[in-house]
Amino acid sequence: MRRLLVPAFLLPLLALAVATPLSTRSVSAAAPAAPTFNKDVLPILQRNCQECHRPGAIAPTSFVTYQDTRPYARAIAKAVVTRSMPPWFADPTVGHFKNEKVLSRAEIETISAWAEKGATEGDAKDKPKPVDFGDGWTIGKPDIVVTMPKDIEIPATGILDQSNVLVYAHFDKDVWVKAAEVRPGNPRTVHHMKAWIRPPNSTWMKDAPEGVMYNPPRGAAGFDGVGPQVAPVSATGYRPVQDILAKYNPGVEGQEFTTGNAAKFIAAGSDIVFEAHYTSTGKPEIDRSSVGIVLAAGPPQQRHLTTTAISARGFEIPAGDPNYEIKAETVVNENAKLVWIQPHMHYRGKDFELTVVYPSGKEEMVLRVPNYKFDWQVGYELAEPLDLPKGTKIKTVSHYDNSTGNKNNPDPTKVIRYGAQSWDEMNVSFVGILIDAKSNPARTFGSGRPAPPVLE
Ligand code: HEC
Repeated sequence: MRRLLVPAFLLPLLALAVATPLSTRSVSAAAPAAPTFNKDVLPILQRNCQECHRPGAIAPTSFVTYQDTRPYARAIAKAVVTRSMPPWFADPTVGHFKNEKVLSRAEIETISAWAEKGATEGDAKDKPKPVDFGDGWTIGKPDIVVTMPKDIEIPATGILDQSNVLVYAHFDKDVWVKAAEVRPGNPRTVHHMKAWIRPPNSTWMKDAPEGVMYNPPRGAAGFDGVGPQVAPVSATGYRPVQDILAKYNPGVEGQEFTTGNAAKFIAAGSDIVFEAHYTSTGKPEIDRSSVGIVLAAGPPQQRHLTTTAISARGFEIPAGDPNYEIKAETVVNENAKLVWIQPHMHYRGKDFELTVVYPSGKEEMVLRVPNYKFDWQVGYELAEPLDLPKGTKIKTVSHYDNSTGNKNNPDPTKVIRYGAQSWDEMNVSFVGILIDAKSNPARTFGSGRPAPPVLE
């Protein structure tokens, strides 16, 4: 193995970095001897960091200009050598992902050599063009933006329940969606959020007033998949379904549905429900979030669904258990393709793996996350759509640490059951699936009945 050039102040971290297997796609070019910010470091930051480290984005520091970046030179070197940044948690020996965020060895060496040798700016003429992050949408300019019609008031203190905000969207015709993105109105208070497509005739949130935080009474009709069964085929011949249009949380920004020439369907008459998880900030806040939609040219061959079909609910994690295992599985009832996986657990979530079992019995592990972190709900986009022939099982195995050894554990003395709040637990895999555009999504999984969608 080639020696990794690391400044003395980072040597204790070297062992850690070397123990972490490198991506098979690492660039093998050597690092420059005397790297400068403009020539060598800025291009790496542009490609790998600025989507979050720029003014107005989710990271607390901006790495856009030399002046902004220079004070953090050592912190940056440390973050890349330990691979704590950029955030990416997949085992590099399992699967390949389009949105993989892994720095090459040469990139790490460049940054650490720069930090050690005085973190110089270099020649202005070496500076690459600034990246255009547009007006903030990572999906490009949306064709349609659906925004909460009223300010949502978030109190200064206290723990807020997850709640839903219904917005009448007035889709007057069937549309196909190429990309969608939830944009928080006030990123200080929006912890995470989903935009759901509520199909026409769905009874979910049927008594909700528009534009306010509302929680249907427990057991209220509608959420458990009534939509797809009652909704007739749309005017253009496709099945409306309750589907997740877009998700927002650290690690997931805009989502494109074009892999495999697919798109997401919204039937005329559908509405949008924002599933909102706000956190209080110490002062009263207001929010008006939006979802932006980029339309596809026309009906695709393949339809994209974001489903929660692989989930477990009936578990009890014993108090103090350091390694409680939960397994979940489902089966596909028609030929489908897997394109995206986002494991979801709460503070006790420890690790996760997803395996497919083909009708032949052959098994293939698709994603392994050895160190799950609740703070980073990364979505993993497969490099190529994975064929799931009819009868293929999708299985997940996850572990939970409910002991005192888990420093994020809200209460190790409690038996933990399923619940949407972060101090309860969940076991859900959000998966992006492609099916034939004309088929009925309600019958894709399991018994052929729609799996109950899951609120986080
Ligand atoms: C997906 C968003 C995202 C990307 C990409 C990202 N960061 Fe961060 N970074 C954050 C956020 C959010 C924080 C603050 C919270 C935290 O530390 O987890 C942070 C914190 C940091 C810190 C503070 C110390 C630390 O390690 O926690 C450093 C340094 C840092 N990032 C460097 C980088 C560098 C260098 C890159 C690119 C190679 C990068 N980040 C890519 C979101 C990101």
